Amino acid sequence: MERKQKAIEWIRYDDPDEVPPPWRHLLEEAGRGWNKAWAPYSQFLVGAAVLLDNGIVLSAGNQENAAYPMCLCAERTVLATAASQYPGTAVRALAIRVKNLRKKLTEPATPCGACRQVLYETELRQDGKPITLILQGEEGPVVVIEGIAHLLPFGFDHSAL
Ligand code: THU
Repeated sequence: MERKQKAIEWIRYDDPDEVPPPWRHLLEEAGRGWNKAWAPYSQFLVGAAVLLDNGIVLSAGNQENAAYPMCLCAERTVLATAASQYPGTAVRALAIRVKNLRKKLTEPATPCGACRQVLYETELRQDGKPITLILQGEEGPVVVIEGIAHLLPFGFDHSAL
């Protein structure tokens, strides 16, 4: 018997002004994703922006539906847009910002489990090149996570298929 461990790590900036400028810029783009969200049911707007290896930035918002299970998270919406519009181009970073129309959110939220699994496969598709996640609420502290392994240490991959 052997007890094993995996470590995860993240960076927290209590002062958003300390965040490196490229990531600050991507957070601004994620904020633009709020305007693209359709979230009349949850009133919870998620804005996501990706920076691709070719320098292109794309943003998206969550897309809800009266048939609730059809709701699309902002993260998967922007990742599918990137893969469709720029196939074969690696995703360098993904910024996510959340805004609740009922109360001000001053802490980031992390991607749901389904989106973590999609991020995991996105990294595999780009030969394991890690995607940096930059997370923020409506305002306030910023969390940076350098690679999905820190959020999903045991993703499902194709090796068993
Ligand atoms: N949502 C996202 O867009 N990303 C997440 O990681 C978590 C949840 C959306 C789905 C739904 O439109 C709303 O937030 C409430 O769950």
